[in-house]
Amino acid sequence: MESFKSLKKICILGCGGFIGSHLVERLLSKGGYSIIGLDITSEKIKSFVNAKNFSFHSVNIFDTEKVYKWIKECDTVISLVALCNPSLYNTIPLDVIESNFTKPLNTVKACLELKKRIIHFSTSEVYGKTQQALLKEKIKPDNNNAYILNEDHSPMILGSIHAQRWTYACAKQLLERTIYAYGFEKGLHYTIVRPFNFIGPRMDYLPGIDREGVPRVLACFMSALLQNKPLQLVNGGKNRRCFTYIDDAIDALIRILDHPEVCDKQILNIGNPGNEVTIAELASLMIELYRELAPTESKNHPQTQIISSQDFYGSGYEDSDRRVPDNTKIEQLINWKPFTGLKDALRKTITSYIKGYSTIKEACRGKKK
Ligand code: NAD
Ligand code: UGA
Repeated sequence: MESFKSLKKICILGCGGFIGSHLVERLLSKGGYSIIGLDITSEKIKSFVNAKNFSFHSVNIFDTEKVYKWIKECDTVISLVALCNPSLYNTIPLDVIESNFTKPLNTVKACLELKKRIIHFSTSEVYGKTQQALLKEKIKPDNNNAYILNEDHSPMILGSIHAQRWTYACAKQLLERTIYAYGFEKGLHYTIVRPFNFIGPRMDYLPGIDREGVPRVLACFMSALLQNKPLQLVNGGKNRRCFTYIDDAIDALIRILDHPEVCDKQILNIGNPGNEVTIAELASLMIELYRELAPTESKNHPQTQIISSQDFYGSGYEDSDRRVPDNTKIEQLINWKPFTGLKDALRKTITSYIKGYSTIKEACRGKKK
């Protein structure tokens, strides 16, 4: 039997979200960790919230004193708390800056003071637009290297201040720079990760089903499919993303967690360069798979519809044209490679949403009776 002393003690801030819920679930099934989880919600972790070696606390990260108290009890802090849906960046920019810079900065300071290691979640959005987007004519389209984003060399290009889409990327980047400086000047032990569009079950929420709003693209498309509405392609869906399956991402995170020395003071991309698609291609693939997985529900032939970014997000929205992770460093340091292809990732994700939605529908029918 594991004694409490032999367990690695981890504090996960934002454990109730998409990534946090998968991370906690995997750590509990792997064993060897004692987890303190903090979040304002536990909806996505309700099936294991009372598990052994996991203690959940409903805490707002804005409550610095309580957060400090829990950080004190662990060896490593994993900092996930954020507002991270693009529909918020230009509509509530102050909250976005506060939740991605000002408040998590207190977490970083607490880790420095208490001499705790921090694994901080940044984003592939810090790369912003690619050079190719600005120099369309000058770089040959077949020069794919122009799109590959390296943690230690690629420039980071954000739009003007009016383009409030970049409040999130800018706040995340400033916190990265602050963490880096704390490492440089004061010896903070950290690893910064830059996720590239993770997808999987439990991502965001389904507008019109769970709650209202505009989540990230996977949830927008899933919600449209389940409700027989058109999948909306912002500005035609020409921009590209590399979608990374959550299970692969969690593999990477656990290796980072378990290799503190080699990952110390590193910034690491976590992404799947083999899963690159345009958003229009993503929509077509999801429609195809939904037809295969829910043939009776999809008999009305789901459609796509083009919408302007102004109509979808409002003013101040801009986009990243393309972002492909350079995985050289993460592969060399911790021998991690993603292995789930896009079709497989979407099949698993769509299946889980269909199952969840049928449970919701049954519950509604039960209430009406
Ligand atoms: P998420 O929105 O599902 O999870 C964030 C969690 O933080 C939520 O459970 C939320 O309740 C919690 N939270 C928000 N404000 C809080 C507060 N004031 N106090 C306590 N808890 C609070 O997001 P996610 O997709 O799991 O992302 C986690 C982290 O990874 C974020 O920092 C995000 O910027 C980063 N990231 C995610 C992706 C991705 O593909 N999912 C990509 C790039 C970066
Ligand atoms: C996201 C978010 O900023 C963060 O969650 C995260 O940090 C970041 O990705 C990342 O992976 O690093 P983005 O990829 O733009 O950014 O967000 P999505 O909502 O997933 O949108 C992807 C693309 O789909 C965008 O071009 C968007 O305009 C488009 N889209 C979105 C549609 O065409 N239709 C929709 O219904 C929703």
